[in-house]
Amino acid sequence: MRFTVAIDGPAAAGKGTIGRAVAQRFGLAYLDTGLLYRAVGALVAGGADPVGAARFLRAEDLQRPDLRSAEAGQAASRVAAMAAVRAALVDFQRAFARREGGAVLDGRDIGTVICPEAEVKLFVTASDAVRARRRWLELRTADPALTEAAVLADLRARDARDAERAAAPLRAAADAVLLDTTELTIDAAVDKAVRATEQRIGQGRG
Ligand code: C5P
Repeated sequence: MRFTVAIDGPAAAGKGTIGRAVAQRFGLAYLDTGLLYRAVGALVAGGADPVGAARFLRAEDLQRPDLRSAEAGQAASRVAAMAAVRAALVDFQRAFARREGGAVLDGRDIGTVICPEAEVKLFVTASDAVRARRRWLELRTADPALTEAAVLADLRARDARDAERAAAPLRAAADAVLLDTTELTIDAAVDKAVRATEQRIGQGRG
């Protein structure tokens, strides 16, 4: 059965880890849509036109080594507020969502704008402090000078911009399953996401 899993939520809530695990469990393709905005943000920081960068994004642009940094996240969030940039990325994401064999996409607007017909929608959250701690642990090897407080400030700024923008703001779809991972281990969070997916798919069949 072909189906789409849409995963949304604020920065560093665990969407990527959960998305990859759910994709593997059900044999679906996986797309981290944040990477599209990060790549556009990096191209714009290098002088490119935002809409042109989004329209002509190439596979190799997504492989740049610097896309995971906090700066790349901020640059992504600035270009992501531009409606024309978002519009240029819609077709690629929708085609991916409906590909043969099914797909998992994670981002901010997957269940609300990109794929409102997704069979499964998850909205993944965690407390600000827990998200900052997780992201700091991820980034500190590459950037030993980074502090947890700086990561927290970065996530809050990005979440505020993402939630307050007019174009496809961050919010849960009315029919999304809410998954708060604050108190959960990775395994427990993945387990809940897999069970929610099975339940939704089962309901769809019934
Ligand atoms: O998910 P990630 O943190 O990599 O996303 C980087 C930024 O890209 C987000 O802060 C958000 O501004 C933007 N984004 C978006 N819509 C998506 C995915 C990411 O606006 N579907």
